[in-house]
Amino acid sequence: MSEAVRNILQADGVAVKEPTRDDAGFLWDFWYPAVRSTEIRGNKLVTAMLLEVPLVLGRTAEGKAFAMRDSCPHRGIPLSYGHFDGATVECSYHGWRFDACTARCVEIPSLTSQDKLKVERVFAGHYPCEERDGYVWVYMNAPGTRLPETVPGAPALPVFSKKYKITHLACDLPSHVDQGIIGLMDPAHGPFVHQSWFWRSKHSIHEKQKQFEPIPYGFRMSPHSPSSNSAPYQLLKRITGEGVTTTIDFVLPNMRLEEIHSGKMWFSSRATVTPVRRDLCRIDFVAAWNLPFLPVFLFRMFGKTFLRQDQETMIKQAEGLKHDPKLMLIDDADRPAKWYFGLKANLLESRRTGAAMAHPMAGPVTLRWRS
Ligand code: FES
Ligand SMILES: [Fe+2]
Repeated sequence: MSEAVRNILQADGVAVKEPTRDDAGFLWDFWYPAVRSTEIRGNKLVTAMLLEVPLVLGRTAEGKAFAMRDSCPHRGIPLSYGHFDGATVECSYHGWRFDACTARCVEIPSLTSQDKLKVERVFAGHYPCEERDGYVWVYMNAPGTRLPETVPGAPALPVFSKKYKITHLACDLPSHVDQGIIGLMDPAHGPFVHQSWFWRSKHSIHEKQKQFEPIPYGFRMSPHSPSSNSAPYQLLKRITGEGVTTTIDFVLPNMRLEEIHSGKMWFSSRATVTPVRRDLCRIDFVAAWNLPFLPVFLFRMFGKTFLRQDQETMIKQAEGLKHDPKLMLIDDADRPAKWYFGLKANLLESRRTGAAMAHPMAGPVTLRWRS
């Protein structure tokens, strides 16, 4: 059904069928951060949702993080209501027990010696799980598919010295992951949403020109000197006496990476936008740096302000999106958003056909906008 037809039907009060599960616009077969590492300790079972899949996570007595589908394969009660002894999860309903790391059933208490059921053939749903940069990452393989022979490692934040500070921030956005992602890469909202005395004002708006280049699964804002009107960059330049360069990458499914270097000083950050449900996503932001003048508390103060500004805007936007409006993507400020949709479509197409993934960019491009 076309969007226009759907709009007309909805205006007439006709209930329009929501997209089906397969249609929710999620990218499967990627790693997503589920919870912070610090949240799983002892024999606690913790719940999370990724791509509308309910998960139960925990940590074995050996310290290994695990993620299972939060649903007992017997009658579907969430396994998180059960009991975890450091090795197996026991369902709260009929006491079936599952090995936490493999999700293989190890006991069905109701079986008698006459019963033929092979307990070890019963499995709960389970997902590969890795801890990195303070997050528990879960590899979300598509429903009804087998895991690949080798699952690539979970993504790691690039760091450039032995010692560094690191901090994490998170914020929920009441929107589809696509809106969260294009909000993240949108250069034009800065002067309006992120007005702060310490950063910039609406009056500092000026024309910019940035070079972009294709990279596997994404695109890069080529190394450049960051905008001169931002106080933190000025300070960095003064301290090191050297030039400052910034490189910003976007990589599917959901990752924005930024690196700032000036002499031996560096700052590295990663924001991921993770789909929780089709109407909810979460930004997980992690930053590391060796800048001696930037204490963690100060960075968190600024970082939280930024995230809150984005969050408040997206809460307001969600109000408008409820009515399924027609939207626009304009050049050049929305070109990165167009590339994102292009990358996503091309990835799905290459997975469908088995052919190599086409890149929506033919080569390096210069974009111009005012912000
Ligand atoms: S529902 Fe879990 S053991 Fe029956
Ligand atoms: Fe923003």
